[in-house]
Amino acid sequence: MRVSLAGLELVNPVIAASGTFGYGIEFEEIVSLERIGGFVTKGISLEPMAGHAAPRIVQTAAGMLNAIGLQNVGVEEYIQRKLPPLRRYPLCKVIVNVFGYTVGEYIGVIERLNQAEGIAAYELNVSCPNVHAGGMAFGADPSSLEYLVHRAKSAARRPLIVKLSPNVTSISNMARIAAEAGADAVSLTNTFLAMSIDVETRRPRLSNVTGGLSGPAIKPISLRMVYETARAVTIPILGMGGIVTPEDAVEFLLAGATAVQVGTASYADPRAAERVARGLESWCRSHQVERVARLTGALEIPHD
Ligand SMILES: Cc1cc2nc3c(=O)[nH]c(=O)nc-3n(C[C@H](O)[C@H](O)[C@H](O)COP(=O)(O)O)c2cc1C
Repeated sequence: MRVSLAGLELVNPVIAASGTFGYGIEFEEIVSLERIGGFVTKGISLEPMAGHAAPRIVQTAAGMLNAIGLQNVGVEEYIQRKLPPLRRYPLCKVIVNVFGYTVGEYIGVIERLNQAEGIAAYELNVSCPNVHAGGMAFGADPSSLEYLVHRAKSAARRPLIVKLSPNVTSISNMARIAAEAGADAVSLTNTFLAMSIDVETRRPRLSNVTGGLSGPAIKPISLRMVYETARAVTIPILGMGGIVTPEDAVEFLLAGATAVQVGTASYADPRAAERVARGLESWCRSHQVERVARLTGALEIPHD
């Protein structure tokens, strides 16, 4: 079940996604952390952030909308309090999701994290749809993305994964730009910009008015984006968007992902990532797949 990705050796290709797995340590009594390849932390910024006012989460027909607003403890407290206990689980790779409002803030977070032990890689969040500056503003503009990734790669002493926004005309084009600017891998997709209205009050259901849609509703679109991106870049892809079952994970691997992330599913079942990892192993066994890495890009397209 092992895969290697941008210099990381993962025990299996299933990773818990940013914003749905806290700082990881909260899950130590719920999930066998060493039975998943790793997890990505909530987005970490230079200073602590309170996030948006409630309501910040709304259930939708086949998923959820969120506008958390990147609430987090800030890089200093993260390093002092959240990271150290994870040394108990050396096989579980800690990937830190990095967020800033300016290029300088992104670099500041990376430089501080460089000094800490126990981090496997950085995931640069250039795709948060829920803040007015930073985030998606970088991921949606080719020259801003190129500049930020270039600077981040020069600063980072660890592999750099760039998390792309699906709220663009061509995500594969943005992936190409990130790769050329030095990204070691790309992860996709983040959430899709969306909204929900309560017709009785005539008000938006989220305090932020709009939010990001995730869960099974987005899976076919995210899958198509992973497929297109796999044809555009040679760096590894971490695929996600609505993965709930082991078969969902197989779909993303076949479309070209080297690893997958499980996000919203953890809200319904906190053990979802571990369940998908175990199920993926059983799936490989029952389908005579000797190494899970052989599934990556193994999609067969019939020609007539
Ligand atoms: C409540 C919530 C918070 C999230 N916070 C972050 C975040 O801080 N940084 C980030 O890059 N992605 C964040 N995401 C996006 C997820 O990591 C993932 O890209 C997206 O939800 C699609 O996967 P899923 O359908 O499996 O949830 C968040 C998602 C949710 C539902």
